[in-house]
Amino acid sequence: MQRGAWRSNTGFLLAAIGSAVGLGNIWRFSYLAYKNGGGSFLIPYAIALFSVGIPIMILEFAIGHKMRSSAPRAMGRVHREWEWLGWWPVIFVGFGIALYYVVVIGWFGLYMMYSARAMFGGDLPWAGNPEVFFQQTFLNLSDAPFELGSVQPAILGATAFFWFAMWFICLRQVDKGVERACRVFMPLLVILTTTLVIWGLTLDGAREGVRQYLTPDWTKLGEVQVWRDAFGQIFFSLSIGFGIMIAYASYLPEKTNLVRNAMITACVNCAYSVFAGLAVFSALGFMAHKKGVGIDEVAAAGPGLCFVVYPEIIASLPALNGLFGFLFFLTLVLAGVTSAISIIEAFTSAVIDKFHWGRPAVVSTTCIVGFLGSSMFTTGAGLLWLDIVDHFLNNYGLIVVGLLECLLIVWYYRIEKLHFHLSDASEGGYSRAWDMTWEWCIKFVAPMVLVVILCWSVYEDFRTPYGGYPVQALLVLGMGWLMGTFLVSGIFSTFSKEPIGDGE
Ligand code: PHE
Repeated sequence: MQRGAWRSNTGFLLAAIGSAVGLGNIWRFSYLAYKNGGGSFLIPYAIALFSVGIPIMILEFAIGHKMRSSAPRAMGRVHREWEWLGWWPVIFVGFGIALYYVVVIGWFGLYMMYSARAMFGGDLPWAGNPEVFFQQTFLNLSDAPFELGSVQPAILGATAFFWFAMWFICLRQVDKGVERACRVFMPLLVILTTTLVIWGLTLDGAREGVRQYLTPDWTKLGEVQVWRDAFGQIFFSLSIGFGIMIAYASYLPEKTNLVRNAMITACVNCAYSVFAGLAVFSALGFMAHKKGVGIDEVAAAGPGLCFVVYPEIIASLPALNGLFGFLFFLTLVLAGVTSAISIIEAFTSAVIDKFHWGRPAVVSTTCIVGFLGSSMFTTGAGLLWLDIVDHFLNNYGLIVVGLLECLLIVWYYRIEKLHFHLSDASEGGYSRAWDMTWEWCIKFVAPMVLVVILCWSVYEDFRTPYGGYPVQALLVLGMGWLMGTFLVSGIFSTFSKEPIGDGE
């Protein structure tokens, strides 16, 4: 069957950046930075980027490009017993991260609609107390993970709408669907974010917020929480360990500079997060100034941060509140959609590569099952489920996948073959110094750092259950999700329709 292909390198870059830059850069990055003391988060974040993020991204690009396959087949070609390592992430991302991710896009979509209504003279529904509105009226948040409460119809509707939109985009081959969508959405995203940052910086108190954001608190660096959040965030934000970058690189033409592409994607993504963080922290500064409290007391840290801080400022603007609200939430929706389609693409291409089923059937089934799964996150306990599942899938799932990818290549493959491939594909734009640094990172630095983070995380989670949730909920939702998808990936990899070569 004909595999899709990117029309140009720029198209690929836009799609890779489109996948990387998402809600994670604004919504997730900002609550993690806030929870971990602002400036103190940026140091482990930068360390994670250079020691693990960029090397693994180059590795994923190289594997996908060399094997010309989505993650499972690519892993199977490295070693036939390891195909499951390709299935596991695409399954737990597609039927784990994607499920709540689309619900969060739905929340932002609804906030966008509320703002649009305010543009035409309606009231902003959160005026008065955005935190109370978000938790009580909007989410109808329950007290414990197993008190599901009822499904919120508006959220369910918005979730259905976004699954439908993604189905529509992913039905086409990558150059017509994903690439075209990213070409329009990505530039728009840059313009909107810049407007928001400039606007945020002019607010009263913004300076104090930015100061807190950019001044590291060295004592925080002794806390394991800060480090594991930073590493988990680098994986989440760069979309590595997801199987996505492997699939995307497989659609590139034979000659292409993979290392440069990886550097550009990673740096643009992280610069974008840090830049967008300016807007969030100026906003926090503004709220602290208004309430006369410290920045760390302004709002509850957690996935609800963006839904409290921004609505608050939007409501307190002297004019054009609806318009600004609309633009802000539109930015998030666009960023989220370009990422969410990449998840569907990673799963779809894996299934098509293996079973040779038609794209429309695979995309449609994925979206229907995805929507049904998402609906569990639209109940009153949705936010709590999200928090737990997100913690386990990112801080364990993605990190274990990244670690195993490095080990797999080091154990079963001669890394020189990838060097050779990288330099051949880049037509000389790849130097020996690079070779050495990258090899060193994949062989030693990344595996060691990831093992330390993992052990430290396990120890911490045993000592104090994550987020103060009941242990049972953590086991069922967090570990259960990881184990369940692991089993399914084992089952998928046992169906062998074609002999898998060793990639030569
Ligand atoms: N990298 C994306 C972000 O930062 C996260 C993501 C991508 C999540 C693809 C799921 C799928 O938002």
